Amino acid sequence: MDKMTVKKSPALRGTVSAGGSKNSALPILFSTLLAEGDHWFENIPQLMDIDSTALLLGSLGAELTRDGSRVRVRVGKTDARIAHYDIVRKMRASILCLGPLLARFGEAEVSLPGGCAIGTRPINLHLEGLKEMGAEIKTEKGYVIGKCKRLKGTTILFDSPTVGGTENIMMAAALAEGTTIIENAAKEPEIVDLANYLNAMGGKVTGAGSGIIRIEGVERLKAAEHRVIPDRIEAGTLLLAGAITGGEVLVKNCIVDHVEALLQKLEESGFRLTREKTAVTIHAHRGWRGVDVTTAPFPAFATDLQAQFMALMTQAEGTSIITESVFENRFMHVQELVRLGADITPKTRVAVVRGTPGKLQGAPVMATDLRASACLVLVGLVAQGETEVNRIYHLDRGYERLEAKLESLGALIRRHQ
Ligand code: UD1
Repeated sequence: MDKMTVKKSPALRGTVSAGGSKNSALPILFSTLLAEGDHWFENIPQLMDIDSTALLLGSLGAELTRDGSRVRVRVGKTDARIAHYDIVRKMRASILCLGPLLARFGEAEVSLPGGCAIGTRPINLHLEGLKEMGAEIKTEKGYVIGKCKRLKGTTILFDSPTVGGTENIMMAAALAEGTTIIENAAKEPEIVDLANYLNAMGGKVTGAGSGIIRIEGVERLKAAEHRVIPDRIEAGTLLLAGAITGGEVLVKNCIVDHVEALLQKLEESGFRLTREKTAVTIHAHRGWRGVDVTTAPFPAFATDLQAQFMALMTQAEGTSIITESVFENRFMHVQELVRLGADITPKTRVAVVRGTPGKLQGAPVMATDLRASACLVLVGLVAQGETEVNRIYHLDRGYERLEAKLESLGALIRRHQ
């Protein structure tokens, strides 16, 4: 099984580019199921989650081919309506095929995703929304089985702003009869990107990026072209790599508004930043302060950057209180950080991090989920000696060649196969 060794590295310096957004690419690739024909995309990252999506789309009659970051999805006629457990268990976002399949074919069987390291991650809000649109939904033998005539537009009020739920309903509503209004919708940039692609296909979506999204259903959508937005989580992770090593790193292909909550916390901690429209530079700095962070839906601090920010806080002067308000079990990385010598007290949803600059010692550690693995790579850059990060298949789900990007900035990092 692949692992990574990271040695204490010099301050990272140079320029690096973030790739296309994984969390944007996934729903957009699933939205191709709404329209036959050739869909073309630019800026699709090369990741395991995209490979899983390609496999699932393939089993549903949609063939994905790629040339670097350019991807074509050819959607043909097919009777396949089943998303099998073998693929879904590898990637929870597979549930995003449910809305498009129901909307286009009036039937779908999608395996329930099962457990996840960061929380229970139910899909009740996806299912309730689809039921409100007229779908009959039952769960049998581990599968969600949905049937409907043409879905009907309605008003759906989410109890909490779910990203995947908002995306599933937007896709389902694009081909529904009448208008759907999603209230308390997620506002993430990935929602806006999906709306842009639905509109490129001839959909009628307005309000994406606000708490109320309006989708006027149309009879038919047509395959179109789209460039996926940059990955704000990858950009944030690269900035944090610059920060934790006291280096100076320019991250290109980064939309500043999408990482603003992180940038403000970095400034509060004492870092100086240069913002350009699609690039940010973090400037060399030592003796940064511990700051408190609470994760919450966009535009607040992203839960997907919590673990990596905690890595930075282990090296801060003073204490940082990190509150995880999105997922109930997203502190799996804490015990690994503690094994390296970090002083962290985790409680339910709150971790108190007492910074101990320069005190971490490299050791073998285990990645538990995607962002936790990035956190461990970041601390590996500053821990004395060598840190061995095991189970990096988690990292490969969501970071494209992270080790190559860090190495280009001077990191002492190696993948072992
Ligand atoms: C997406 C992102 C993930 C990110 C998360 C929060 C993708 C592929 N993944 O995940 O990287 O960490 O947003 O920004 O885009 N919930 C329910 N019922 C539901 C759905 C969600 O209770 O039906 C709860 C979840 O348990 C969680 C919260 O709502 O506590 C937010 O989850 P959600 O926004 O749906 O996350 P995902 O779409 O799964």
